[in-house]
Amino acid sequence: MSPFLLTRTLPEDATGAALRADVLRGLTATPKTLPPKWFYDARGSELFERITGLPEYYPTRAECEILADRSAEIAAATGARTLVELGSGSSEKTRHLLDALDGLHTYVPVDVSGSALTLAGQALVAERPGLHVHALIADFTAALALPATPGPRLVAFLGGTIGNLLPDERAAFLTSVRALLSPGDALLLGTDLVKDEKVLVRAYDDAAGVTAAFNKNVLSVVNRELGADFHADAFDHVALWHAGREWIEMRLRSRTAQTVKVPALDLAVDFAAGEELRTEVSAKFRREGVRAELAAAGLDLAGWWTDGADRFALSLSTAH
Ligand SMILES: C[S@@+](CC[C@H](N)C(=O)[O-])C[C@H]1O[C@@H](n2cnc3c(N)ncnc32)[C@H](O)[C@@H]1O
Repeated sequence: MSPFLLTRTLPEDATGAALRADVLRGLTATPKTLPPKWFYDARGSELFERITGLPEYYPTRAECEILADRSAEIAAATGARTLVELGSGSSEKTRHLLDALDGLHTYVPVDVSGSALTLAGQALVAERPGLHVHALIADFTAALALPATPGPRLVAFLGGTIGNLLPDERAAFLTSVRALLSPGDALLLGTDLVKDEKVLVRAYDDAAGVTAAFNKNVLSVVNRELGADFHADAFDHVALWHAGREWIEMRLRSRTAQTVKVPALDLAVDFAAGEELRTEVSAKFRREGVRAELAAAGLDLAGWWTDGADRFALSLSTAH
C-alpha cells in the first residue's frame, strides 16, 4: 500500500484555544454568531455527508457533474503533480480529479476534521497504489505550511465552502491561497450560483431534518468541549435567504427566554425568546463577482464551467 501520512499542523491545544476564543467572541456579540468550522467533529462530518445525498441538496450533484465532465480538461490544463484540497471532507468528488491527473504524485487533503481525513485517506491509499497521501489537520483560514512535494501544484477548494467565509475573510483567504502558488500552479474553486430563493432555502432546510441536526451539532460540540449546557430541543433550525447579500444564513432560534452556561469560559449567556444565533452564511456567486474577487487577490480566471442547469460553477485560475 502507498504511504498515508496524517499531520497535525497546529499545536495540541490550538483547536481548544481557538474554539474558546470564537465562542467567547461569538456568544457575547450582538447579534450572536458562531463560525461554521465548529460543526465538523466526527458526527458533524458524518451529518454533512448525509446532507450531500439529500434530494434538496443539489450542490454536490451539480459539482460532481462538472468534475465528471471536465476533469480531463482540468488535468490537461494544469498537469498537476500535487493536488492540495482545502476542506476536503470525504474526498468523494475528488476521485474524478485523481482519476484524470495522470502524473499525480501526492494528494494533500486539508481539513479541521481528523476523522474525515482518516476515513478518506485510508480508503484512497488502499484503492490507489502509488499515490502518496499526506493529510493535514489544519485550519485553511490560518497560514498553511504545505509539505514539499513535486509541482505543478493544483489547489482545489470544492463544495462551495468559500461561501462560508464573509467577504473580508474571503479576500484574506484568496490572498493567502495566491501566496501558496508558484508560476504554473493553479486554483480550482467551486462556487454555488445565485438562483431561485425557494430552491436555495430548501437545500438548507430539508424535509428529513438532517440539516437541522447538522446545525444543532455545533451546540453539542460546545457542550462537550467547553462543558456548556445547551439543549438542542430549546432551539429551532432556521434557513433564510438574504437577498441584499446574496447569501443563505443558517441560524438557531431560541424557543424561550433562557440562560446557557459555558463553564470553561466562566460565562452565562442570556437568550431572549425568539433570539437567533447565526451559525453559517453560505454566499452564492455570479461569474463577474468570482472573477473580480480572484483578480483582487492576484488570480486570473482561466476557465469557467457550470453544470447543465447552471446551478454551480467551477473556476480555474492562475497567479499573475
Ligand atoms: C461544506 S463541507 C465540504 C466538504 C467537501 N469538500 C465537499 O465538497 O463535499 C466543508 C468542509 O471543510 C471543512 N472545514 C470547514 N472549515 C474549515 C477550516 N476553517 N479549515 C479547514 N477545514 C475546514 C469541514 O470539516 C468540511 O469537511
